[in-house]
Amino acid sequence: MAINVFVPSFHTDEILEEIRECLDKGWTGLGFKTVAFEEAWKTYTGLPYAHFVNSNTSGLHLAVYVLKNKFGWKEGDEVITTPLTFVSTNHVILYERLKPVFADVDEYLCLDPADIEKKITKRTRAVMYVGIGGNTGKLDQVVELCKKYKLKLILDAAHMAGTKYHGKHVGNEADVTVFSFQAVKNLPTADSGMICFQDPEMDAWVRKLSWLGISKDTYARFNKNEGSYKWRYDVPDVGFKYHGNSVIAAIGLVQLKYLEEDNRKRNELAALYDELLKGNSKVKTIPVAPHCYSARHLYQVLVENRDNVLQHFYDQDIYPGVHYWDNTDYPMYHYAKGTCMTAWEAGERLISLPLHLNLFEKDLEFVTSLLK
Ligand SMILES: Cc1ncc(COP(=O)(O)O)c(C=O)c1O
Repeated sequence: MAINVFVPSFHTDEILEEIRECLDKGWTGLGFKTVAFEEAWKTYTGLPYAHFVNSNTSGLHLAVYVLKNKFGWKEGDEVITTPLTFVSTNHVILYERLKPVFADVDEYLCLDPADIEKKITKRTRAVMYVGIGGNTGKLDQVVELCKKYKLKLILDAAHMAGTKYHGKHVGNEADVTVFSFQAVKNLPTADSGMICFQDPEMDAWVRKLSWLGISKDTYARFNKNEGSYKWRYDVPDVGFKYHGNSVIAAIGLVQLKYLEEDNRKRNELAALYDELLKGNSKVKTIPVAPHCYSARHLYQVLVENRDNVLQHFYDQDIYPGVHYWDNTDYPMYHYAKGTCMTAWEAGERLISLPLHLNLFEKDLEFVTSLLK
């Protein structure tokens, strides 16, 4: 049987019961389960605010939009970011006509604080930091840099549902942290995400912006007795249709119950990979940073002749992934090509080995035997 890089596991019967409640109540949209999921996420992570959106990409866009407009950033102002990521991370900077300035990655494949510092200019406004594979990298140092240079910190935590840093769920380190609950993430729904600001005003604003800028959502209007003015709302901003819905939140509510257990299993599998690859000089593994308990969304390794290695896997019905290709190779980021050589080299050599909850020891033994 084929072994794929990702295979999500769903608690189908429990999820269907949770969705049934939405259908029976006649409420599948914003509100009801989305509110319950936001509350459950805050309880689980300890983050002060959480707003459920239809993807991490939408959440990242809202994060950039809110910070830009709140602090008066101008077109062409700069956001320091990583070239080794899914393009969402960088596209959202362009959506707001800001300039992605690429800094290189370190031994954790996260942004290297030393290179961030070199890339800071008078126009730098923020750092967009990706916890790749669930790893925190040197996040503490990045937080310090942001304080020193008065930069905002946006954490793309697409891979970090369940990542702990210094013993606590990651997220409070940044001005805004955005998670992904896309179909193959650690907490899979179908497509959705959570945007978590530290500031109550920004949280309140983002709730309106994700619903087209409308001042009062339909769930609030439905539930509050405001006499014949119930229908009345204002539209102070040109917002977006980015909010999440109750059917997807119902999936998230169930999956969240199993996230800790699932991440424990992922960590066991990762430890087994570490053990099986020990002493293999053809493969370089990526360490988890100090003080980090990684959600282990990915198990990444660096190999020589990556395309040959991948073909060897495909011939055996095994389908690893590649996370990611250096974004400066894409036309819209080409202006920065050659500025981040560690990321470029990693992009040429990276493989994400299969890592999901349906794998057994024998699968990992087989996968790693092909790397000898
Ligand atoms: C690092 C990173 N950022 C952002 C995203 C976008 O997430 P979503 O699909 O929820 O928009 C992904 C998804 O793969 C990702 O891996």
